[in-house]
Amino acid sequence: MKILVTGGTGYIGSHTVVELQQSGYEVIIIDNLSNSSVEVVDQIAKITGTRPGFEKTDLSNADETASFFRKHGDISAVIHFAAFKAVGESVLEPLKYYSNNIMSLVHILTAMQKHGILHLVFSSSCTVYGQPDVLPVTEDAPVKEALSPYGYTKQVCERIIQDTSPVSGTQAIMLRYFNPIGAHDSALIGELPLGVPNNLMPYITQTAVGKRKCMDVFGGDYNTPDGTAIRDYIHVVDLAKAHVIALRYLSGQKNKEAVEIFNLGTGKGYSVLEVIRSFEKMSGISLRYQITRRRPGDIEKVWADTSLANNVLNWKAERDMDDMTSSAWKWELELKKNI
Ligand code: UFG
Repeated sequence: MKILVTGGTGYIGSHTVVELQQSGYEVIIIDNLSNSSVEVVDQIAKITGTRPGFEKTDLSNADETASFFRKHGDISAVIHFAAFKAVGESVLEPLKYYSNNIMSLVHILTAMQKHGILHLVFSSSCTVYGQPDVLPVTEDAPVKEALSPYGYTKQVCERIIQDTSPVSGTQAIMLRYFNPIGAHDSALIGELPLGVPNNLMPYITQTAVGKRKCMDVFGGDYNTPDGTAIRDYIHVVDLAKAHVIALRYLSGQKNKEAVEIFNLGTGKGYSVLEVIRSFEKMSGISLRYQITRRRPGDIEKVWADTSLANNVLNWKAERDMDDMTSSAWKWELELKKNI
């Protein structure tokens, strides 16, 4: 089976391509390389021994997308990662986010319908829940008003898939990721943030390696045991494996609804300070950090109820926080070697 992975040179996309290839799938990647590098394709080939197909294509361009699908009539399913994901940037440049994230999906769904491709796995996010009223959060918790254009694009895309499916026959799985961190065991692929990282893990590793002087812990006065915010961090390899399982579930026609939603997390919440402690233990480095004001738009705490993915998809996150922080550190050290 030939699988199209959009955004396949990105962080989660590249790890998923590896898992797909290692499960026997043929993969073709589309990426516009706006936030990743084509060398990732070589790195994937080093890990798996097989070079995935690659085409630089801008999915927000209707003609480019249509012409890609005309050339590749043998695609059996699509995993759609390609999207902008920086929350702060989306507030400053909302149209960039609306045109890219939403139009790319529209163009893909149009092409899938035209070519009779029925199976879609879509990258959604726990951001759709906002601050949930009940924890752990289940898939049927209400979708809260989005705090950023980025968050809103995830809500709109979920809705577009729901609305399109009865008309086009698309069978979709929407995966709501909690906070993916860590890197592949080989340290050949990992997260490659451009410029100053927004997210916690790359900020920790860049501070430890000396690229940043000191790290800000945003908020020490949350209503949590140590005062810092809590998230459900998930190892990117566990997350990647879930995509292969979701695809098999769709192709095995195991789905009960045309569109199904699953939380992907570990089900455990860690505070920012607990992540730092794990990092310090695994790296042997004492991290320079200071507790500062809360970051605007941050929620206090969220973690997943993962029973649906555990029981229905038969998937469970296997790697713990120490695996996450140690693999992220190994990857940062590998990046340092290559500078
Ligand atoms: N944090 C710090 N210092 C930093 C960076 C982050 O203390 O330098 C804190 C944040 O305040 C938050 C936690 O670390 O409490 C995690 O922050 P991230 O930026 O890594 O991730 P978020 O929870 O903010 O979520 C991000 C996006 C969401 C998306 C989610 C999962 O903001 O929209 O990743 O993909 F859904």
